[in-house]
Amino acid sequence: MTEEEIKERYQKVCICRSISKGTIIDIVKNGAKTLEDVRRKSGATTGSCKGDRCKAKILDILRRYA
Ligand code: FES
Repeated sequence: MTEEEIKERYQKVCICRSISKGTIIDIVKNGAKTLEDVRRKSGATTGSCKGDRCKAKILDILRRYA
């Protein structure tokens, strides 16, 4: 894993719930196929913004890693 990939994994995807990109990638690689799957397994999109700030980023991760 490159230094850039490591830095990317630590970026916050869901700011409200403080969930990193690495956590979301791992959930998707372990079988999550939809936004709902990711929500159930991580709690992402359940913060005060109700996913306004993180849904698009999660959908992008699903497209890239599912
Ligand atoms: S940033 Fe994910 S619920 Fe607000």
